[in-house]
Amino acid sequence: MGARDALIERFRNIFGGEARLYRAPGRVNLIGEHTDYNGGFVLPAALEQCTWIAAAPRPERRLRAHSLREKTTLEFDLDDPAPTPRHDWSDYVRGVAVMLQRDNQAIGGADLVIDSDVPIGSGLSSSAALEVATGFALLDLAHLPEDRTRLALSCQRAENEFVGMRCGVMDQFASCHGAADRALLIDCRSLEFRLTPIDPSVRLVICNSMVHHELAGSQYNVRRAQCEEAVARLSAVLPGVRELRDVTMDDLTRHGGLLSEVVLRRARHIVTENERVVRAADALAAGEVETCGRLMRESHVSMRDDYEISCKEIDILVDLASKIPGVLGARMTGGGFGGCTINLVRVDAVERFGAEIAESYKAATGITAPLLVCRPGAGAGVAN
Ligand code: GLA
Repeated sequence: MGARDALIERFRNIFGGEARLYRAPGRVNLIGEHTDYNGGFVLPAALEQCTWIAAAPRPERRLRAHSLREKTTLEFDLDDPAPTPRHDWSDYVRGVAVMLQRDNQAIGGADLVIDSDVPIGSGLSSSAALEVATGFALLDLAHLPEDRTRLALSCQRAENEFVGMRCGVMDQFASCHGAADRALLIDCRSLEFRLTPIDPSVRLVICNSMVHHELAGSQYNVRRAQCEEAVARLSAVLPGVRELRDVTMDDLTRHGGLLSEVVLRRARHIVTENERVVRAADALAAGEVETCGRLMRESHVSMRDDYEISCKEIDILVDLASKIPGVLGARMTGGGFGGCTINLVRVDAVERFGAEIAESYKAATGITAPLLVCRPGAGAGVAN
């Protein structure tokens, strides 16, 4: 029996009856970190790894959700006037249901059995995959029209307003709009996007540092506040500035004195990173893989020194990777303070890279780093 049939079978055992199967992928970001909530550019790709949900409608206006990973079932009333978070996995499910309803989407009650092969807490967006799979299932079961950008925004809102993490839209957007063998260049202000082919001479290899720092959530919100402070100060002298997206390096050279030393460095990361993303997307599509790799390396330095979101183990992984022949670029991917690196590796060097990075990282840190050769996959959808 395949994994899909097994999930439907579990649904029969837990809730009884037949179910439809939905899936939504995690994502890896090639370049463009923390630029999304500054109205800027990002270049993620959806992963083959997904959250899977077997779901069926039920007559009462209640949601029952069972997580196979957590081995728990939770039940919510869709008409609860004051839904409150429980601070566990179910907040992503409930938060999405709450925000879809606030967006006037007439969803109904449902039973959900949830499974996932997206690694948790690794910067590969397991939470966005859960949100988007939930949202896609609830909309489809209620026969509501498919609007992927609107769904991504409701899922982001669930995380911002229900879970309390002030994330941008990248992860949910990539999970909704991903396409096989493509990265997505997203303009996070206009929400326009372009599918970017990845030159066949390279592979994206993800290395999991296995480090997860608890401060990730709180430091994320601190970075966001620092960006807002930069905008508040700069817009006093540059009236056209609404977000750091509107700021150039020239502006920072002239008016950087208005910012504290730390806030200036945060702003400099965002301004330079936006430029790198656009150039990297063009380079990747044109087969200029060395240029793309160089921009990824520069991005890592900027995250490490200006935005200060890397950590010791991630820097070790990036440094070790950079010394292996055939590695064009390596950088941390995702929100920061641990998680994964993404490496742009020539096809014929992937095998050697895998063996050498695993061995040298283990020797340096004592940690075994799981590797994933990424084949960008499709965005959310019905799976059976
Ligand atoms: C997390 C957030 C995204 C984005 C990245 C950093 O994944 O959910 O919105 O800000 O961090 O690029």
